Amino acid sequence: MTAEAHKPKSMILGTGSGIPEKIVTNQDLEKIVDTTDEWIRERSGIERRHILEEGKANSDLSIIAAEQALEDAGLKAKDLDVIIVGTVTPDSPFPSTACRVQAAIGAVKAAAFDISAACSGFLYGIKLADSMIRSGSARYVLVIGAEILTRITDWEDRGTCVLFGDGAGAAVLGPSDGTRGILSSYFKSDGRLAHLLHMEAGGSRYPATHETVDKRMHFIRMEGREVFKHAVRTMSDAATHALEQAGIHPDDLDFLITHQANIRIIEAISKRLKLPKDKVFINIQEYGNTSAASIPIALNQARREGALKDGFRCLLVAFGGGFTWGSALIQF
Ligand code: ACO
Repeated sequence: MTAEAHKPKSMILGTGSGIPEKIVTNQDLEKIVDTTDEWIRERSGIERRHILEEGKANSDLSIIAAEQALEDAGLKAKDLDVIIVGTVTPDSPFPSTACRVQAAIGAVKAAAFDISAACSGFLYGIKLADSMIRSGSARYVLVIGAEILTRITDWEDRGTCVLFGDGAGAAVLGPSDGTRGILSSYFKSDGRLAHLLHMEAGGSRYPATHETVDKRMHFIRMEGREVFKHAVRTMSDAATHALEQAGIHPDDLDFLITHQANIRIIEAISKRLKLPKDKVFINIQEYGNTSAASIPIALNQARREGALKDGFRCLLVAFGGGFTWGSALIQF
């Protein structure tokens, strides 16, 4: 790839997040399923998670994240050309959550749509936004990763219910100033492994019936141990691709934010990249696995807390059901 191809064409202008107030601790879960605080912390790194209150939906958090990101970017909703929401837990199958966000914030000239890439949804959105800005088909793109996983969590399955949380994160992308921005991005899928992490019913194959509900088919099912192995392999692959595309050695990386699914997965990837702990952002202890929301929530937190500084070269890496995976290398 030529040096010109490495020049950023789009950059992140602002970030935001929408986090539910209600917190459920590991001790709370000890009362619901056969588990312990010690097991959850040691096997996953999670201490608590935020859960959306009844009566509220994905778009309620997405709107908060979107408005915060727009304010941070110094832009108005009417400036937006495109709104993309990465989610597998939309308010309803249609219209898209992106259209609901568009109406609520008044982004009158935007095209709006959702993408289904599970935990990789936000980075798939970043890849699309960068491509649109690069090609000149859009100037300002709002990318949201938002998930209410606890609505599709089987609270009788201790292998999954201790892992998930709810939340939304957002980023506004616009034209690069010439030095800062997306240096490279990468995405990939392998549908042959879909059965390891999926929700069987609720679509056209098994529409909701009394039987599908009785058989508990509307919940996430996951082969945790298998998924773990693929998560480490694919996120390492995504990290390598983004770095190689941009011609950057891992030693020259300042900051890493991976999908927050399991602290042992994050540590395994950091080890493969030979990154010291202080370059790796971790907030899984507070939020659990929020799927598509995990990277934008972490990104927003890291920027606002000053851990992710101007001048840093930051790698984002995700993995999720599908399987899907992806990465973006960003010069801040
Ligand atoms: N409390 C206590 N014991 C438990 C619990 C629990 N909550 N859950 C499972 N166990 C038990 C199991 O029954 C098993 O017992 P056994 O040995 O007697 O059979 C034992 O603990 C070990 O179970 P494993 O599943 O092998 O545990 P593991 O160390 O693999 O950790 C975990 C499980 C945390 C799920 C891990 O496999 C993981 O994080 N996997 C990847 C998750 C991920 O990356 N998901 C991707 C994105 S998610 C998305 O897209 C929505």
